[in-house]
Parts: sequence; structure tokens; C-alpha cells
Amino acid sequence: MMNPEVQVTQALKSIARNDHIKSYIQQSNELYPLLVKAAKRFVTGENKQEGIEVAKELIKKDYFISLEYIGENTTNVEECRKDKDEFLNLIEEMGSLSMNQTVSLDLSHIGLSVDSETAHIHLLEVAKRANLYGITLMISMEESSKTNNILDIYKKTTEQCPNVGITIQAHLYRSINDIKELIHYPGKIRVVKGAYQESANIVMPRSKELNNRYLELVEQLIEANHPVSIATHDESLIQEMEHRQYLNHPHVEIEMLYGICPGLLSNLKSKEYNCKVYLTYGIEWYLYLCHRIAEYPENLYGLVMDMINPSIVERNSLY
Ligand code: FDA
Repeated sequence: MMNPEVQVTQALKSIARNDHIKSYIQQSNELYPLLVKAAKRFVTGENKQEGIEVAKELIKKDYFISLEYIGENTTNVEECRKDKDEFLNLIEEMGSLSMNQTVSLDLSHIGLSVDSETAHIHLLEVAKRANLYGITLMISMEESSKTNNILDIYKKTTEQCPNVGITIQAHLYRSINDIKELIHYPGKIRVVKGAYQESANIVMPRSKELNNRYLELVEQLIEANHPVSIATHDESLIQEMEHRQYLNHPHVEIEMLYGICPGLLSNLKSKEYNCKVYLTYGIEWYLYLCHRIAEYPENLYGLVMDMINPSIVERNSLY
């Protein structure tokens, strides 16, 4: 019998992928505003300006930032072009503010759900523009059915634009082999545990085994002197990496999602490690919010409180 927490997590991951529920919420005058309030726990807002404002505050506090215009699975070419243009606008604005930080994106947001060629062309354009301003572009990793395509597009692009990096999911068994190859490309590698529900024969569940695999991947990158982003909120895993002296390596940063474990990141920053906050904005916050709840169902309590009490704590002040 599956434990109730795993059942809730799996149900939430399925809800996240359900287009009927998503459009019902988007069209509901009652539910939509309530959920937007809840989403603000993890998302800076619905527009670019809100993302930039939060980024400025965090940079003032000596954090690095990564900013994403949220969206994925855009299946219409015209929409992909508009979303790619939004990334270009974001980069222009960051450039004009001398914010030479990081922009993150999902390839299925800018073309992969149409075809690989569209994603590659759009990625190259965004990467070249980012390069002009010293901005790093990090590609997120999506469902395992897309892994090969995402890695191929990354490899082609980073050869021309070394400011492009890639995310690797430790929970996928294949990642241990992928990383051996990726180490020969210049881009930064962000190591995450993995957020997508996949079949048990290709991924490890959250476990000691997964944490050991995570350590193994990071170790390979450190030994190769490769730029790495340690993207986890797992305190025991972070403590182990601190103990192994991984965190004070100059090519290493610790990256956490906005609104999650801010106290832990602030404590790491006080020890002068490179700490980065991953910020998101955009109207497609629904899937992002579902992922954050699915990863940690206890978040539901906080979200319900946020819906009832409009005076949400300013997330920034927690960093
Ligand atoms: P784990 O899930 O084991 O959690 C460890 C502890 O962290 C929990 O006990 C809890 O205290 C805290 N925690 C974790 N998640 C929380 C939450 N949502 N709310 C509150 N507390 C929480 N995934 C992916 O598949 N593709 C990608 O491209 C990315 N990109 C990405 C970028 C960055 C910067 C981060 C930090 C994460 C991602 N992820 C991702 C998500 C990632 O795969 C993973 O699902 C989450 O980071 C949660 O896993 P942890 O490593 O934190 O460990």
C-alpha cells in the first residue's frame, strides 16, 4: 500500500498536467485571484517588472539571481516566437541595468513542443543576445521523453555560445552516463534531483540512494573543475557537500527556488558561499505552483493561509 504522502504527490503531479483543470482555474473569477495570492509565495508576479524588482533587492543583498519567464509546452509557432521575444526583452532590460546574471528557460516554452529546429533557432537567438550582456542562459530539464532532444540542442548551442548551461536530473539513472559526456562541453551544469513523475524503471525515488547519486554527479563536476550549480534545498545533502569542501570551490554555486528555505540559503551566504535565488514570473504560474506543492505537500497549509490572509509576508525579507 502506497503511503498517503506519495499518493498526494502523484495526484498533484497529475493535476499539474491536466489542461482541463488548468483552463477551468484560469477562467474562474473566484478561484483565479485566490490562487494568484497563493502563487506569490513562490512566484514574483505575473510580469517582468515584478521579477526585475525582486531580483534587484536580492542582488543588493549579495545574492546571485536566475530569472525565468515561466511557461512550457507551447505548441503554436507564433506563441513560441512571442515567448522567445519576451526572453529577448527580459535580457535587454537586465542588460540595461547591468544585471549580468542568469536567465533560465524551458525549451518547450520556445519551440521544442513544435519541433527541435524551432527550439534550436530560438535558443541561439536568445543565447547570442544574452552573450552581449554577459548573461548566462540555463536550460531547464523536462520530462524524460524530451531529454535526448534537450541535450542535443544544448550541445549544438553551447559550442557556439559557451554562456549556455544545462540542467541534469540526478533521479534519472541515465544521468550518470550523460554527465560523462556533458563534462566535455563548456556550459555550466545545474544538478537537481528531478521534479517530474516518471516510471520507476528509469528514475530513483527520493532516497539515500538518490542522495548518493547526487553527490557522485557533483563530485565528477568538481573534479573536472567544471562550473556547477548545486540546486537543492536538502539540508543534509548540503551539509555533506560542505563537509567535503565542495561549496567553497570557486566554480560552485548553491541555487534554491524563490520562497523555499530562504533561511537555509541566507545561512549559507553568511558563510560566503556563492548563493543564487531562482526567480520566476509570468501568467503561466499554475504548473510551477503545482510542482512546488507536489514536491512538498505541507506547502498546502501555507498556501491556504495566503489565500485567506492577503497580507502575505514579503518573501524578500526572509533572505
Ligand atoms: P527534496 O525534494 O528531497 O527536499 C529536501 C527538503 O527541501 C524537504 O524536506 C524540504 O524541507 C525542502 N523542500 C523541497 N522542496 C520544497 C518545496 N517545494 N517547498 C518547501 N520545501 C521544500 N527539476 C527538474 O526536473 N528540472 C529542472 O530544470 C529543475 N530546475 C530547478 C532549478 C533549481 C534552482 C532548483 C532548486 C530546483 C529545480 N528543479 C528542477 C526541481 C528539483 O528537481 C526538485 O524537484 C526540487 O529542488 C526539490 O528537491 P530537493 O533537491 O530540494 O530535495
